[in-house]
Amino acid sequence: MTSSPQDPLLARAAAWLAEAQSLFVLTGAGVSRESGIPTFREARKGLWARFDPEQLASRAGFDADPALVWRWYRWRKARVRAASPNPAHHAIAALERRVADFTLATQNVDGLHRRAGSRAPLELHGSLDRVRCERCGQRLPWEEVPEDLAVPRCACGGRLRPDVVWFHEPLDTETLAQALAAATRAELCLAVGTSGVVQPAASLPLVAKRAGARLLVIDPGDTVLGPLADLWLRERAGRCLPALAPRLSGAPGRPRRALG
Ligand code: OAD
Repeated sequence: MTSSPQDPLLARAAAWLAEAQSLFVLTGAGVSRESGIPTFREARKGLWARFDPEQLASRAGFDADPALVWRWYRWRKARVRAASPNPAHHAIAALERRVADFTLATQNVDGLHRRAGSRAPLELHGSLDRVRCERCGQRLPWEEVPEDLAVPRCACGGRLRPDVVWFHEPLDTETLAQALAAATRAELCLAVGTSGVVQPAASLPLVAKRAGARLLVIDPGDTVLGPLADLWLRERAGRCLPALAPRLSGAPGRPRRALG
């Protein structure tokens, strides 16, 4: 079932968002789908289908063939560079300006929330905007890495790697702690475009719900979060979130800072 602007489900979702004083948002690859970036599971088809994800996104894969892993991430970075934030990213950035206690946590590494104006997204799985040295831990902007080196090196001699979380790697503890705290205090949790299968990020909406929050899910597909939702809009984020925005504009928002 897809929602239309007159849809009562949309009106209810907009009312919840307008009333929320503490909102926790979790996004996944689906929020960037309408920016032309394949979701994580779609990206596994086509060009890279012949590789096992572990070969491309794990420490063991990097040790086995670091040049291959750099080719994969340079391919993904090129896709991200060519992409722009879509209306869903902008709607989430607009929500941040309206809600007193707002936290955005994303599983995406594409940096599109920041480019849409989200001020401090918690990048649970890291970001392709940065690389880091395996040896000394120094982080650098991706743009500072020479494109012609198959496996770039740090000034200390260590190998540089994309600053993203690979399979079997832990998330940054401080980032995860901030997300958990925000989920626990939220009165509304909005989960957009995530299949809800990768832990620990996938548990955050459940943490919010157990702590008393309503769970609003936006996803046209069969996310495992859907059946757990208090309201599930089976709609594309790029269409659904902006449709919520006009209803929000009339609501008595509590702008945390002057809109603009
Ligand atoms: P998935 O590819 O697992 O799920 C994408 C979700 O987006 C699915 O539920 C789709 O139905 C939904 N979707 C597709 N198009 C959409 C649209 N236009 N609007 C809204 N939703 C849409 O991606 P994630 O859940 O983000 O981890 O995957 C989580 C993690 O799995 C990734 O961050 C990655 C991978 O292992 C790491 O890289 C550590």
